[in-house]
Amino acid sequence: MAIDSPAAAGAGTQAKLIAEHYNLLQLDTGRIYRLIGKLKLENPKKFSYSLIKKKINNLKIKNLQNKNLLSDKVAISASIIAKDKKIRDIVYQFQQKCAYTPPMKYAGSVLDGRDITSVICRDAMFKFFITASLKERAKRRFKEFKRLNKKIPLNIVLKSLKKRDKSDRERKHGPLKKTKDSILINTTKLSKKACFRKIKAIMDRKLNN
Ligand code: C5P
Repeated sequence: MAIDSPAAAGAGTQAKLIAEHYNLLQLDTGRIYRLIGKLKLENPKKFSYSLIKKKINNLKIKNLQNKNLLSDKVAISASIIAKDKKIRDIVYQFQQKCAYTPPMKYAGSVLDGRDITSVICRDAMFKFFITASLKERAKRRFKEFKRLNKKIPLNIVLKSLKKRDKSDRERKHGPLKKTKDSILINTTKLSKKACFRKIKAIMDRKLNN
């Protein structure tokens, strides 16, 4: 299953619910770019393609479940390094492996990001584009930061999301876009549960056919 979305639209939350319900391996691909973005922030002098390759070769999904990847600084750095074609190519293999050869205990995989439906898993059985208004996304991210004890004003969160969206949509390689064969879900007025029910109904219809 492939999901694309702009930042903070709820794709990660939905991917998690879907993974649990259908027993799928879940990969939030934004976390990989965040890891590399963080690497650059911490070690700008040592930052190189060979260092990234080494990191990705040894990468385990559980390494990505780290709270220190969640800051706005790391997100901005991620969106900058994500423009680099060579970096996208390095990350490609890892994503492919998770998507197409998940461990046997899983029934399949669900990946979310920006270029999953358009580049990484073009032939996915299910393709969704999850979005929400900028204002709603900013509110959600603001609340998440608050829970993490990061006090960033709402207007700053909104500006940062807007900037990142623009960069993600307008970049040359793997830009965020809705493919024709993806189903659009707008979560602006949907609760997490309502959104999941909607996605589940669409999936079950196809699975039971
Ligand atoms: O999804 P998340 O907000 O964690 O992603 C952080 C950044 O990583 C995005 O703004 C985007 O620039 C980049 N990204 C990407 N391709 C993906 C996933 C994320 O370029 N498949």
